[in-house]
Amino acid sequence: MSTKTTAAETKTVAEGETLLSVEGLGKHFPVTAGLLRRQVGAVKAVDGVSFSVRKGETLGLVGESGCGKTTTGRMIMRLLEPSFGKIVFEGHDITHMSQRQLRPLRRDLQMIFQDPYSSLNPRQTVGAIIGAAFRLQKIETEHGVKRAVQELLELVGLNPEHYNRYPHEFSGGQRQRIGIARTLALRPKLIVADEPVSALDVSVQAQVVNLLEDLQDELDLTYIVIAHDLSVVRHISDRVAVMYLGKIVELADRDDLYERPMHPYTNALLSAVPIPDPSKREGRERIRLTGDVPSPLDPPPACRFHTRCWKAQDICKQTEPPLVELSPGHLTACHFPENTTVSATDEVAKAAVGGSGAVTPVEGDPKLDADDD
Ligand SMILES: Nc1ncnc2c1ncn2[C@@H]1O[C@H](COP(=O)(O)OP(=O)(O)O)[C@@H](O)[C@H]1O
Ligand code: SF4
Ligand SMILES: [Mg+2]
Repeated sequence: MSTKTTAAETKTVAEGETLLSVEGLGKHFPVTAGLLRRQVGAVKAVDGVSFSVRKGETLGLVGESGCGKTTTGRMIMRLLEPSFGKIVFEGHDITHMSQRQLRPLRRDLQMIFQDPYSSLNPRQTVGAIIGAAFRLQKIETEHGVKRAVQELLELVGLNPEHYNRYPHEFSGGQRQRIGIARTLALRPKLIVADEPVSALDVSVQAQVVNLLEDLQDELDLTYIVIAHDLSVVRHISDRVAVMYLGKIVELADRDDLYERPMHPYTNALLSAVPIPDPSKREGRERIRLTGDVPSPLDPPPACRFHTRCWKAQDICKQTEPPLVELSPGHLTACHFPENTTVSATDEVAKAAVGGSGAVTPVEGDPKLDADDD
């Protein structure tokens, strides 16, 4: 296991150089109707997200299903054309690069998928699947492809003797290891792991997460790890971004986010994460979010969370709260953030209404069930 918890290490990562930066990135999928396929609307899957990832860092990207995580990942991989915004990788603007221009970068940017089985060809042996990655990219191997594949199998904790087996002969966790080995064959610089353990039994989830962490230390990898559950990314992430309906609502260092969440939505997500230590469970409120996530076809105006937020006031329905830095490195988009001082709240209000007044946070919870856990 890596030792992400030490302050010194966090600092090294924090000071590292930026590998990827995303500015105001968005994807609107047009919705058409009629014979002429006239555009009648758009699914605002991702609606202006900004963040950066430093070399060697892991950024967790979390939010309920449908909030735009996969779309964000696929745009970064350039598997989807962004509608607006900018993606800069290693100093190059890759937002609208052609497939030909992207070719030399393809190896550097790799994605690990949720369902390892569907991404592995059932008719090919593991050796052929992983070997193809070396051959496709014309990667030089010192002692031949077979030896390189066997080394990789060993690296991801599989038996190198199983080189000639087929995907169905492995368990779900082992197949995800095969998927990871195939990705690693390309020696990528940035890996977007989209729900890498969601399809796996809880008992093997931690093993695969630990494997990703160990490989990161060994191979100097940078990750964006996507999950719908805050517990999955907790141990692996240096920083975590929380998405809601196509927007980032909170972005902070891992410990800061889990210990002092500021956005009500993050609080709600966190309250659903089980706490293994019974002594720490006491006094924690469970927040049950009511209602479904609204449709990205017609997201609520201003703060998109206002239809489900127990702190919502009129201003939340009228003025979109900007994502502002309320403490060093901790960004939140909320008019009434929690775990912060009133003066910080004023900062948000001022930024949101152009400096013309402060808003007092109001407690109270008419919309939610709250019970002691
Ligand atoms: N190709 C597409 N065409 C239209 N809508 C899409 C397409 N891909 C995704 N969406 C919609 O965009 C929203 C975000 O999807 P997605 O990025 O997959 O979310 P997540 O990964 O967070 O579950 C969803 O409402 C989804 O239905
Ligand atoms: S801005 Fe208002 S509605 Fe939105 S999360 Fe904050 S308190 Fe809730
Ligand atoms: Mg997804």
